[in-house]
Amino acid sequence: MRRPILAANWKMHKTAAEAAEFVEEFLPLVADAGSVDIVLAPTFTALDRVANGLRGSNVALAAQNVNPEEQGAFTGEIAPGMLAELGCRYGIVGHSERRAIYSESDDFIASKAAALFAHGICPIVCVGETLEEREANRTLDVVGRQLVASLAGVPEARAAEVVVAYEPVWAIGTGKTATPELAQEVHAAIRSQLGECFGAAGDAIRIQYGGSVKPENVDTLMAQPDIDGALVGGASLAPETFARIVRFERLGGAS
Ligand code: 13P
Repeated sequence: MRRPILAANWKMHKTAAEAAEFVEEFLPLVADAGSVDIVLAPTFTALDRVANGLRGSNVALAAQNVNPEEQGAFTGEIAPGMLAELGCRYGIVGHSERRAIYSESDDFIASKAAALFAHGICPIVCVGETLEEREANRTLDVVGRQLVASLAGVPEARAAEVVVAYEPVWAIGTGKTATPELAQEVHAAIRSQLGECFGAAGDAIRIQYGGSVKPENVDTLMAQPDIDGALVGGASLAPETFARIVRFERLGGAS
């Protein structure tokens, strides 16, 4: 049974003070959330404050990005060891905003995932097609290529620790969610590709859906057999809203 994982990606929102305020309001709302993994990914400048607020709680800390190098002349960048020192358990790599706005390649993303692993941080590897790619019937090709290339540096023995996030670009921040059936179709294809890459471990890898997830649609998304969690942007910014997502309703025998 794969343990659900609900993660908040705050992107470039919330100062350290605002993030700390969120944590204070949020923790009591999810204290008895049960067997789910809950993750917050604040901006770099808020990591330390949020780490302090989360200490001893059932919520884990994630970074939104990382540079794959250990240290050196990389102005403005943050090394994986620095994130590990702050207590990050997860790190997001390959988000479509970084692929599109900062021209990050699959190879660069793969090296980030490997660097996180080397520091004991689980990568959350994002993949997803644009609207143009979907309309050209290229969704599974694009997602498959991103997946294989981005996971190239993942040691097979530890593959089960990876989290994959399927985020169709056309659904991010647009209010347009993929229907649960449409998301499931891509998740099932991802699952089978993970099996080809990692054998039985592929079955243990959690696949999150991301793209306009909100309280109104999380339950039906989570009821799909290969949707193991959500990576949430806009709807994760308010404590009550993200708490409702974390406390999704398990419909019809879903895990
Ligand atoms: P929204 O939930 O705002 O659509 O963002 C999704 C996302 O990009 C999470 O990484």
